[in-house]
Amino acid sequence: MHLTVEEERMLNGECGEVVQKMMGLLVAMGEAFDATRMIPVNSVHVPAVALSTLRQGGKKLIEDIAGSGARVKAFTTVNPSSTDDSQWQELGIPEADALEQGKVTEAIHSIGAVPTYTCSPYLIGNLPRFGQHIAWGEASAVVFANSVLGARTNPEGGPSALASALTGRTPLYGLHLDKARLGEVLVLVKAELKEAADYGALGYWTGYTCKELTPVFVGIPHQVTEGELKMLSNGIACICSPALFHAVGITPEAQSEEKALGSQKAIDILEFGDNDLSETILRLSRATTRDVSWVAFGCPHCSISEVMEIAGLLNGKRVNSNIELWVCISRPVKALSDRMGCTEVIEQAGGRIVSETCPIVITRETIKQKGFQSITTNSSALATYINSVPGIAPHLGRLKQCVDAAVSGTWR
Ligand code: F3S
Repeated sequence: MHLTVEEERMLNGECGEVVQKMMGLLVAMGEAFDATRMIPVNSVHVPAVALSTLRQGGKKLIEDIAGSGARVKAFTTVNPSSTDDSQWQELGIPEADALEQGKVTEAIHSIGAVPTYTCSPYLIGNLPRFGQHIAWGEASAVVFANSVLGARTNPEGGPSALASALTGRTPLYGLHLDKARLGEVLVLVKAELKEAADYGALGYWTGYTCKELTPVFVGIPHQVTEGELKMLSNGIACICSPALFHAVGITPEAQSEEKALGSQKAIDILEFGDNDLSETILRLSRATTRDVSWVAFGCPHCSISEVMEIAGLLNGKRVNSNIELWVCISRPVKALSDRMGCTEVIEQAGGRIVSETCPIVITRETIKQKGFQSITTNSSALATYINSVPGIAPHLGRLKQCVDAAVSGTWR
């Protein structure tokens, strides 16, 4: 693998032991995937900084990096943490967990990463352009970056994203190369997609059906919103399928079917109709109880326009007193929500704005203490990920249906 003089210096330890190890990791990855060289990255998004997802090894790695005095070389943002430090007590997060998470976040800050704590970094300033090479982790953000923004990233894990942050490089292989980005299966979208939840279901169905093949959507309307594409990306990402889709006319490199497929013919042509949409939502809505205990929006973290929509639906209503309603967002989006009066509307209705964390990365101990039996959401991904939390089953529906359930206390 060819390395530049600067990369050689990093590899032979001239830039410190930590940078040497990180460059060693990237070189090993590059050799495993037949990369011919390294490329500079425009930005990095580090996926695993939450206490609940970091194992002992991950925590130690972050603390060792911070202890060494190393600093990031690329613009770096980070995924949600296991706490909202502005209200950890109110959320019932155990003090020990809040303190432990605090140590990790301190280490993250000291290496120069931007404390975004969001899975939608593209909403708050980490916005790569078409064709730029980046090194991002967080499955939903990776799919969004590749497919909606047209940037190029492989799905990175915590260590490889940190390695790219500290060296400013990633090996040139996989989705950084044209040949790995071609579409393989045509998905004709025939269903009437009315809102973000429907796009999430389309994403889930596609990932489930296409497995590792790259889908090319035909029929997604040009006026599709950022929130709907965010949910589509998340729906695909939640079942570990390819980290890229093409939506003809929307994905920057797929302005036509031919461009999306390159010179090859589609391996298969599938149709997603109204029945597929309703069956997917029903399949994911596994809760057997009609009782609602926890309503959660913001998987991935909401944009300000989504918060405005939720506030509009809650305005003048009252969330059932036995129910917790969370709207999960980043701190900058919370600042906008505060200024626009959305936070006040949501809180007056009995809901809660939760910043920098979410129902999946918050510690299990917190959820256990609350005794929730179901989660009601508009996100296919959250309805899937919640399977990893014992004793909680999802209701999946459209936004208004979820808000109505929060008010009535019953899932209809
Ligand atoms: Fe984000 Fe948590 Fe969903 S990290 S994608 S809100 S599971």
